[in-house]
Formats: sequence, C-alpha cells, structure tokens
Amino acid sequence: MHIDELDTPCLLLDLDRVESNIARMAEFMKGASASLRPHFKTPKCPEVARRQLEAGAIGITVAKLGEAEVLADAGLGPILMANQVVGPVKIDRLMALLARGVDITIAVESEFNVQELAAGAARSGQRPAAIIEVDSGMHRCGTTDPADTVRLAQALIDAGIDYRGIMGYEGHAVLIENAEERNEKAVAALTIVGEHVEALAEAGLPPQIVSVGGTGTHELAANFAHVTEVQAGTYVFMDGRYQDVLPGKFASALSMLTTVVGVKDRYAVCDAGMKSLTNEFGPPRSEDGTLKVARLSEEHAFLTGDRVANLKTGDRVTIIPSHGDTTLNLHSTYHVVRDGEVVDEWPILAARRFK
Ligand SMILES: Cc1ncc(COP(=O)(O)O)c(C=O)c1O
Repeated sequence: MHIDELDTPCLLLDLDRVESNIARMAEFMKGASASLRPHFKTPKCPEVARRQLEAGAIGITVAKLGEAEVLADAGLGPILMANQVVGPVKIDRLMALLARGVDITIAVESEFNVQELAAGAARSGQRPAAIIEVDSGMHRCGTTDPADTVRLAQALIDAGIDYRGIMGYEGHAVLIENAEERNEKAVAALTIVGEHVEALAEAGLPPQIVSVGGTGTHELAANFAHVTEVQAGTYVFMDGRYQDVLPGKFASALSMLTTVVGVKDRYAVCDAGMKSLTNEFGPPRSEDGTLKVARLSEEHAFLTGDRVANLKTGDRVTIIPSHGDTTLNLHSTYHVVRDGEVVDEWPILAARRFK
C-alpha cells in the first residue's frame, strides 16, 4: 500500500531511519565503557525493542509495570524499571511477573517501599530485585544523602531483596540546547551518582548496576566513571524537541500524516488535533520547517509558515511531533514505511499502559 492510501491522522515510522538510529547508537556504545539499556517509554513497541536487543542492548528500561508486562509477553528483557512500584496492587503485579520467570529489577527510594516489597515477597514466595534511585539533581524521586543510599541498600539485603545497584536520571540536563551547559549539568549529576557509588563501596555494598542517562547526555554518561549502563530512549525515533538539542545526530523516524481540511489567508487547518498530536514541547513542524503547528484544538491543527500559500484542501501534510512519546501514546499503530510504501503495521502495544 502507498502512504497516499492511508486514512489520517496516522503515525508513520520510517524503517530505514529507525534502523539507522539503532545502528548508530549501537556503534557508539561499542566503543563506550557502559552498555545500552534503551528506554521503552519511547517506542512502546516490541518490534523496536527486539531490534535494539539484536543490535547489542543488554536489556530494556521501562517506566511502568504495564510496559514491562508487554515486554514480558513478547519474551523480551531483562527489564529495568526505572521507577518505583508502590502499593500492594502493583507489588502483586510485580510478583506475578517474577512468578512467570521474568528478569525484572525495579527502583526504590524509601524504607517504606522496601518493607512493602518484602511483604509482597512473603505473600508470593518470590524474590524481587531492586536498585536504589538517587536524586542527581532533577529533584523528582531518589535519595540525596549517600548515607541514606547505604541504609537502603542494607535494608534491601536485610529484607531478603536482591540488591543490584543504583540509578540516577539527569532529566534536568538532557534537553538543554547549549552543549556546554548541558555537559556541565550532566557532569555535576553524574558526579553525585559517583559519590553514592563510592559510599556504597566503602560500606562493602558495591553496586553491580549503575544506570543513568538520556539521549541528550548519552555520550558523556556512557564513558563516565562508575556508570555501567545508559537508559537513552528518544534517540530511536528522535522527535522535534530533541532535534533542537542534538541537531542531525539521529534521524527523525516518527512523523504524523495529516490531511488539510481548510485553507485561509494566513493559515491552513489539518485534521490532527490535541487528541492525536501533543505540543507541550513546543510547536510540531514539517521536517523542512516550512510549516509549523501554531495552535491545536481538539481535532484541528492550525498550520502557519511559508508553505501555507501553496496548500489546498485535500493535500497531505507530514508533521514531526515535537514530543514523540506523548504523541505516539495517543495512537495504537505505527504504519511502517520504506520509500513511500507501507511495508508493515506494528501495534504500539504499550501505548496508554500507564499503570
Ligand atoms: C528515568 C529515565 N531514564 C531515561 C530517560 C530517557 O530519556 P531520553 O528521552 O532523554 O532518551 C527518561 C526520560 O523520560 C527517564 O525518565
């Protein structure tokens, strides 16, 4: 099928570009001291994760148990959940994954949660594995005092939980466009993680896993002292926001095909609104920058820019999402494209698996 035959709005995945992004990252990681455990929050699709593993990734990172369940169903892993599993309902879902033989490591940041996990382990007869999340400056979750990290590592061991290491995500640095400033913030964050590693080692509890990093900091993180793995996710599709941070480094593989439904003097309107396209990371654009989504209403995008003068109702317009992850989360299928032909359809099985 040619892409002209697709109904809109819909997502296109350029297979050559996905493959080249995976190969490029794999090639870089071959020369790095750390390994890659790509974040599934971006593709949410086992077909992509399978290719990343085949290219040398040591496992897959997830944000949610729902994503882990999708990977487990596809037989893919080992899984690192870079997030906490809090509350008995979720803890029992984790235990169910372990009972299936899934290799999953989760993050903890509080003694309370360690005790909850221990109770879940006792209920189920399973032995969970965990790393400790360190706050390396993003100020989301994580320990700040290395002494607390040491205490938590000991608490995990005392509770019979498999203590595997630590993580710290420098999310406050990854999207800084100025490379010098980005690197400076990332070095400060990774240095904090290093201080926690050293405290653990001094206490006789050296971490086996030290997991950090995102697409914007992967080069630095992959060769930083103590780091064993990098959790970059966006590189595989490379959205519009990230193209401003690392221009041309990876290819924009994800786009949205839309149809123009109305043309005015200064703008055109197409059929992708906020129910199918997000804009919290700034205006989505055409790849050549001649069209910009100036505004979204529920089912319409208002296009401005040089090319508007040439548009007419019925034209097809391709837009690069500014934030790929939240846009694709609204969809259920990637139309996989090569040379303008739809060569496959991949279900986005982990879309909306936010529990
Ligand atoms: C914990 C964690 N690790 C890694 C990433 C990867 O990020 P990026 O999109 O920069 O590749 C994210 C992104 O949200 C994250 O939350």
